[in-house]
Amino acid sequence: MTLEHSYTEAVESVIFDADQIAEAVERLAERIAADYRGQPLLLVAVLKGALYFAADLSRALARRVDGPSEVIVAYLTVSSYGNAHRSSGEVRLLKDTSTAVTGRQVLLVEDVVDNGLTLQYLRGRLLDRGPASLRTCVLLDKPYRRFADVPLEYVGMVAPDDFIVGYGLDYQERFRNLPYLARLCPGVFLERKG
Ligand code: IMP
Ligand code: MG
Repeated sequence: MTLEHSYTEAVESVIFDADQIAEAVERLAERIAADYRGQPLLLVAVLKGALYFAADLSRALARRVDGPSEVIVAYLTVSSYGNAHRSSGEVRLLKDTSTAVTGRQVLLVEDVVDNGLTLQYLRGRLLDRGPASLRTCVLLDKPYRRFADVPLEYVGMVAPDDFIVGYGLDYQERFRNLPYLARLCPGVFLERKG
């Protein structure tokens, strides 16, 4: 694949290209549509990482004739990695969703699960509000350092043990808008330390 944009020099290799992402989203939408057929569904997307994923997944659900009776899209924002490459283990809710969760069938939509703390925390917060059901959908699973055992009902793709950017995933807020998922050049990390 040709990389025709200004970030080219920062990207070492493409892990999943736009077609592979689109296929994963379609596969997820097919399963979710079947599981929630005829029922209303509330998607709660975790910003900012799941911005593109939730946008594409929600529209893929709309294209399914036998899917949910309606889809509501809500968002919440959690604290990011800051400058570290790994989760600090401290999760903070920066902005909660204003959409009511109580009594609804809720699907939490996240970009990637690594140690699992973010999803464990968010699941707890949402379960406190008494949803009718709560499931989790992640685009990427990085199962290598999991220590919070969270149920993942829908997994798009298993990612290699790398730091990944693109399609919503960032490194220090950059690279989210890449249309594919990629591994950064090691030099990019080095350049920005300290
Ligand atoms: P966890 O709490 O370790 O499961 O981390 C989940 C959060 O860390 C996700 O919401 C992402 O924002 C971020 N994250 C984990 N792995 C990556 C990555 O490879 N690239 C960018 N962000 C990541
Ligand atoms: Mg995230």
